[in-house]
Amino acid sequence: MQLDDLYRRVIMDHYKNPRNRGTLEDEAVTINLNNPTCGDRISLQLQVVDGKVVDAKFTGEGCSISMSSASMMTEAVKGQSFDSAIQMAEKFSALMKGEPVEFEENEDIEALSGVNKFPARIKCATLAWNALRKGIENQNKE
Ligand code: FES
Ligand code: FES
Repeated sequence: MQLDDLYRRVIMDHYKNPRNRGTLEDEAVTINLNNPTCGDRISLQLQVVDGKVVDAKFTGEGCSISMSSASMMTEAVKGQSFDSAIQMAEKFSALMKGEPVEFEENEDIEALSGVNKFPARIKCATLAWNALRKGIENQNKE
């Protein structure tokens, strides 16, 4: 896979020094998701208060793309309302379609733009975002 050097460095930094890796102590929403193509998994925990994601942590095993994406996503989503978090997830889908989008919430996410040419890698990068969507959808149903 060919990625721009700078982008590669950002991704590897999140992979080697993941932000928000771990578990939340207080009652948190937990979403477990697998990437069906490889079996890699993520467990995302969200602490939600009044329609807001106040904290987010994750554990799991996966490739550098999936784990770095989880690190970036959890950074970006902390403090966001459900609506803004879903908007960000939509923006991420657009990024994966090759559209030029900016993430002012966390510019590091833009480093994943290069994976859009690799369908299997798109699944890796989107795993954490799908977990986020699922967690928020479950909340909205309650
Ligand atoms: Fe390139 Fe997994 S990160 S193959
Ligand atoms: Fe499994 Fe990337 S190869 S999540």
